[in-house]
Amino acid sequence: MRNDDRIDSSPHSAQPSISEILERHLSRREILRSSLKVALAGASMGAMGSLAACGGSTNRIPPAASVPLVAPPKLGFVSVPVSSSDSIVVPPGYVARVLTRWGDPVSNGPDFKFDASNTASEQALQQGMHHDGMHFFSLPLGSDSSARGLLVTNHEYVETNILHADGGNTENPSGYSREKCDKEIAAHGVSVVEVESVNGVFIVRRPSTLARRITAATPMRIQGPAAAHPRMQTAEDPAGTSVLGTLNNCANGYTPWGTYLTCEENFNGYFALATAPSNPAEAARYSRYGIGRVSRYGWDKHYPRYNLNLNPNEANRHGWVVEIDPYDLTSTPIKRTALGRFSHEGATVVVGTDSKVAVYSGDDNRFDYIYKFVARDRLAPNNRESNRSLLDHGTLYVARFKDDGSGEWLPLLFGENGLTAENGFADQAEVMIYARQAADRLGATPMDRAEWIASDPVTREMFVTCTNNTSRTEAQRNSANPRANNSFGHVIRWTETGGDVGALSFAWRVLALAGDGSSADPNLKGTINGDIYACPDGLWMDARQVLWIQTDMSDSDMRAGRFAPFGNNMMLACNPANGETKRFLTGPVGCEITGMISTPDGRTMFINVQHPGDIPRDLRDVGVALTPRNPRASSNWPDFNPQGRPRSSTITVNRIDGGVVGT
Ligand code: FEO
Ligand code: CA
Ligand code: CA
Repeated sequence: MRNDDRIDSSPHSAQPSISEILERHLSRREILRSSLKVALAGASMGAMGSLAACGGSTNRIPPAASVPLVAPPKLGFVSVPVSSSDSIVVPPGYVARVLTRWGDPVSNGPDFKFDASNTASEQALQQGMHHDGMHFFSLPLGSDSSARGLLVTNHEYVETNILHADGGNTENPSGYSREKCDKEIAAHGVSVVEVESVNGVFIVRRPSTLARRITAATPMRIQGPAAAHPRMQTAEDPAGTSVLGTLNNCANGYTPWGTYLTCEENFNGYFALATAPSNPAEAARYSRYGIGRVSRYGWDKHYPRYNLNLNPNEANRHGWVVEIDPYDLTSTPIKRTALGRFSHEGATVVVGTDSKVAVYSGDDNRFDYIYKFVARDRLAPNNRESNRSLLDHGTLYVARFKDDGSGEWLPLLFGENGLTAENGFADQAEVMIYARQAADRLGATPMDRAEWIASDPVTREMFVTCTNNTSRTEAQRNSANPRANNSFGHVIRWTETGGDVGALSFAWRVLALAGDGSSADPNLKGTINGDIYACPDGLWMDARQVLWIQTDMSDSDMRAGRFAPFGNNMMLACNPANGETKRFLTGPVGCEITGMISTPDGRTMFINVQHPGDIPRDLRDVGVALTPRNPRASSNWPDFNPQGRPRSSTITVNRIDGGVVGT
């Protein structure tokens, strides 16, 4: 989703040309290749070690007997062309099926009503809207089952033209009832559904004793350094240790101890600050996080906690990573404040050979940063309970990318490097609550909207998508973000020094600058080796070391102008060994493709299709508009019910012959 981006006008020193950057990284390739071989040998042993230690399905590390650890990835399918059709297109020999849709009951529950007349309380028992990050947890816990599991899905935001029969606060302010507000709150959050394979086809099991909904009103605990701090205390929660709800759940993570990490991205948009504080430092604390005068959906009309003039600390209680135990229906989600507060796109967990635990997150905002949390304690084999506090203690770092292809992790520690009371940080809790401002002080590298981060399950090489940044000027280019007016985005890869997830330095290079592949302008042509794409966002590496890339071209650009060559949003597979990239799937009109995970055997892939029915630019330019009266203006996927409306959905993709997806 689009966000209210901060624009950093500070100059950046190095502005090499794109050809200089590519040359630099090409010449480094041999060095990196030799260091990778060393890392590979060590990491392979570590990978086997952590598989043995955890024994769960969440590692995604292939059993040595069935998949050679150093086998080169192979993209064995036939690419699909770009598409503008209102359908899912997959390669020959593959089949895509719809598994769950917005409004489907998670267990025994109310059926979806195609006229959008489901109530708020019904919505709270149904799949939320706008599916994003997702994970498959094998059932039972500790097994590596590919036949039965819990599918946990984020629901990032809502489209009020589609959610309500007569629109939300924007379309129909006088009709914006508390019931509508409650339905929007219930359509946010996370779904847990039980799924099982019946004759090779996944279905949702109903009823289920484990299915649940977590919404923007579900009680949660606050733990870590910011818990109970005065800036976390409110009238509803004077202790500062509990909060209602999780907001704008975008990408995700998963832990080796079998928990789900949901990430609060553009939480700022849910709050209204009609009058900014007169104290400039206090006003800056809100503006640095993009909090504006008016809230996106108007929830502050019905719930004063979204009104920051009445409840100035409520926004401090959002923007965190939330840990959920999907195996325990009664468990309370926990906001882990040691991971910092910003627009968390995801939370990618990597375990080192020495059982150190790191969590990587992009802050998806123009000119914001990439972070790494390193836990104080080591992963405890076979001790799930002890691992449940790992994310409460540790050090948060932010990345600085240097021009020579090296990088540093800079610690966000109170009392060090200017993170002091004189500079506005009273203690470690404030360093976490205002992590963006702490990172500003440390000289982190402003990125082109860092989205998902993926980890190679064999080598621990890391990958990040930078989706785009059209606000970057020539003067603001840096070597990791080499293009001004970056419309199409890029993918960066890095390895930690010595293969140590806790290392304070790393080596990086660009995997690909996205582009149309043929433009005379190198800025638009890009460097993709294979099928073209723009605006990379979702990113995940499977057990075969295939890097899956999903795109999020904005509806305001889609299918027109410089975006005309790309068609609808899509998903691709990339072999990072040679950069070979093949388009695997294209989505229906107006959607983004975001969120993916496979069963442990790699034979079923779950993929999310978010916001079908948005109006792409080419249709908008000829007057097509999405309204409550015309929810089917651009798409009626997946039901094509003449009285229906487009619905975000999870699909499964299988090879028809039952083989491993992508081979
Ligand atoms: Fe919700 Fe940054 O995508
Ligand atoms: Ca995203
Ligand atoms: Ca995005």
